[in-house]
Parts: sequence; C-alpha cells; structure tokens
Amino acid sequence: MTSLNDITQQAGRDAAPAVPFPAGFRWGAATAAYQVEGAAAEDGRGPSVWDTFCRTPGKVLGGDTGDVAADHYHRFGEDVGLMSGIGLNAYRFSISWPRVQPDGSGAFNQAGLDFYRRLADALLEAGVEPWPTLYHWDLPQPLEDAGGWPERDTAHRFADYAAGVHAALGDRVRHWTTVNEPWCAAFLGYASGEHAPGRREPAGSLMAAHHLLLGHGLAVQAMRDRLPGNRFGAAVNLYAVSPATDDEADADAARRIDGMQNRLFLDPLLNGRYPEDVLADLAPHGFAPDPADLPVINQPLDQLGVNYYTRHTVSGRPGEATQAVSSPFSAHSPWVGSESVRFVTRGRPVTGMGWEIDDRGLHEVLTRLHREYPAVPLYITENGAGYDETPDGGTVHDAGRIAYLDAHLRACHDAISDGVPLRGYFTWSLLDNFEWAWGYSKRFGLVRVDYATQRRTPKDSARWYAAVIRRGGLPDAG
Ligand code: FCB
Repeated sequence: MTSLNDITQQAGRDAAPAVPFPAGFRWGAATAAYQVEGAAAEDGRGPSVWDTFCRTPGKVLGGDTGDVAADHYHRFGEDVGLMSGIGLNAYRFSISWPRVQPDGSGAFNQAGLDFYRRLADALLEAGVEPWPTLYHWDLPQPLEDAGGWPERDTAHRFADYAAGVHAALGDRVRHWTTVNEPWCAAFLGYASGEHAPGRREPAGSLMAAHHLLLGHGLAVQAMRDRLPGNRFGAAVNLYAVSPATDDEADADAARRIDGMQNRLFLDPLLNGRYPEDVLADLAPHGFAPDPADLPVINQPLDQLGVNYYTRHTVSGRPGEATQAVSSPFSAHSPWVGSESVRFVTRGRPVTGMGWEIDDRGLHEVLTRLHREYPAVPLYITENGAGYDETPDGGTVHDAGRIAYLDAHLRACHDAISDGVPLRGYFTWSLLDNFEWAWGYSKRFGLVRVDYATQRRTPKDSARWYAAVIRRGGLPDAG
C-alpha cells in the first residue's frame, strides 16, 4: 500500500497544479466532540443531551452511542500524526461543553480543559492550527432539564461557558467558531425530534434558533472583550435551493425553504435583522423575537463557516408529477407543511446519505454570499460524502468520495476566481465517526476506523487529499 509519505513526496515532484489555490489557504479536516471522542464518563465529563438521546430506544440506528466512538480522547496523538501525514495545516474539532463544564453552569472541570490544552499543543507542535467549535450539539443535560435552547437563559450560560474556555485556550487558539449549524440544533432537536433532545415543539424550536443566535452574539462579545486579536465566527449549514419548475407555486416553495434554511440565520448574523418574508411566514407560529437582541446577534464577524453538502429542489404543487423524495429534513414540516412543499429529486447521483451531489450548488452558495451579504472571510467548515463502506485489501478505495471532494474543490476555486473571499476548506471528516441518528452506519472519514480495534487506515481519499495539499491545488480536470 502506498503510504501517505510516499504520496506526498510524489506530489512534491509533480508540476505546479493546473488549478492552484492561493498561498495561505487553510487545508483542513473537521470532527466534532460527541462524534469522535468517546470517554463519555471519564475525567469528570457530565452527560449531554446526546448521551440521553442515544439511550432512548428507537432514536439512533442500531442503538449506537458515542460512549467510545473513535476514541479520539485517548488517541488524539495518533490522530494528530495522521493529520500531519496528510499535510493538513488546520484541524476543526469541537469542545465538549459537558466535559469542561459538566453542569452547563458554575464550576469548570480542569481535567476537561486540560484535554483541550493538550490537544491544541499537540496540533501546534505538528504545525496544524487548532480551530475549535464551542457548540456542536452536545448540550449539558442539566441545561436541557432546565428547558434547553428554547429558554433564553441557555444563551447566557453558553456565553459564560465560551468565556471560560477562551480563558483556558485563548493564548494558543486564534480562530473560534461559536455554534455549529444552528438550523440543525434548533429544528432537528426541537421541531422534528430527529436529533437530541428529540422534542417536537415547533414554537419552542423557533425560540431555540433565536437563542442559538443570541448565544453566538453574547459569546463573541465575551471572548472579544478578553482578547480582541482572536478571530470569531459561526458555522451555518447552507443549501442551494431551486424550484422544481418555473411554476409560481414552486418559486414560492423555494423562497420559503431558502428563508428557513439560509436567510433565517444569515440575515441576523450578517445584517442584524430577520428577513421580513420569513417573519411573516412564521407569525402564525408565534415567533416574535425581541428586536433588542438583533444588535447583539449582529457582532462584526472575522470569518463565516459554510457547511455545504447538497441542493434542495422543491415543489409547491402538491401531488403533481415531480417525483417526491421524503423530505431530507422533516424539521421543515411544521413551518412549510409537508403537504405544501415537497423535496423532489432531479435524478442526479447521490451519496450514501441519499443526498444529491451538486458541486455547482456550492459555487452558487458562495457567490450568493459574496453578492448579497456584507463581505466577510469565508471558510468551508464542512463538505464531504458519507457512504456505507467496506475495506478492500487493507484500504478503502473510495473513488466516490474523491470525485465528490474534487468537484467541490473545483467549485471553490471557481468561486475564488470570481472574487469570493474563500480562505480555507475543511473536509468532513478526518475520521469515520458517529453519524448522529445514523449511528456508525455511515462513514465520512478520510481515514477508516475499525470500531472493534480502533485501528485507523487511511483511505485512498486521504492519499488523494495529501497530494492536493502538497501541490497546493488540483490537476487538470481531464
Ligand atoms: C453536519 C454535521 C456534522 C456531520 C455532517 C455529515 O450536519 O455538522 O456533524 O454529521 O453533517
């Protein structure tokens, strides 16, 4: 098997890439605490909503839990070695709130903070920049017991937690992401109940979205007050959204889904207001956030993280000939009504998640941000493809993932050529890991994890990515 070393040396001998990325571009990979760490009850970590959710029968495929996951808590040294083998210059990971502040308020757990200091130090030593995310969905259970994100106080608890983590790591970490995908946290967690904590409370989920945004703003204020030189941002999951046809009803469906999925988050974060049409759509659901919160949410951002996977094509014509797919996110149904908006397939190739592969959608999302929103340096904080994979002769020949990443990186390059300030790309994910409600059935890693032995095996995509990084870009498409 060709080692990572061989391939990077080989790439070093290759000619300059036909599709070069700018000098200083961040080449990264991402993970999240609950998905990789394991050690769920070690060194003082408290329970999170995901620990509870996984123990609720029927919520997670196969009854899987994150108790052990990829054991990154104990194996981070080996994993940092893999990162430097691939040549990453940045690693996006998340801090487990219940590991560092088990009750979600009050005392911090020194052993938890020490883990992240050791991780950050190991990364810096290896020349890999640490890029932590403060909230990737693992709310401490005591805060959920007190009402969770629909409660305003949770936003204040989040800011206190952020300030505590920042005090411990701000000297060695420069780039901070507050919340990951507030859409998922609010609507999969509190509207559809597909994710922890599994509540189905449409009105509460809207307040959860608002409080996640407020928590972001309060956290940025608290951290920036401490160390103004650090860089702060949030990571949002954005989608290209298209109407199935040029029918007016389809156009309106696209407006509504774009509103709930993209603009409900982008407008407050970047413009300090909620979109009028979305507010009007949501008025019947009693959504009336305090306007005084908007300037707090609208902190000047140093970076915006974009998580991109697919495009939504939607129809507003019930029961017509377009082929319906089950909504990828039934969380939409409380708002748009599954009877009035249908997600339709265009018959394009899909990943193992059933998500249509649409790299031009990424170009569309990036150029739209550049056109319609105030300029802010952009980073792709997640992009990748999940499959049910089996190893083959000691490695994984994941040609599908390579094709996916190649096409999306080309879309990034095109966006940069069009003037979009895209500064880095983090693929999801470094390692195979716990894919939320799908348990361990879907694999997104550049590196395969055998969960029985915790053995790591770089896939073909790891070698491919190493070569891209070493060259500083992609070869000719041909
Ligand atoms: C995103 C999540 C990430 C991972 C990918 C596949 O929505 O942020 O944790 O599960 O999807």
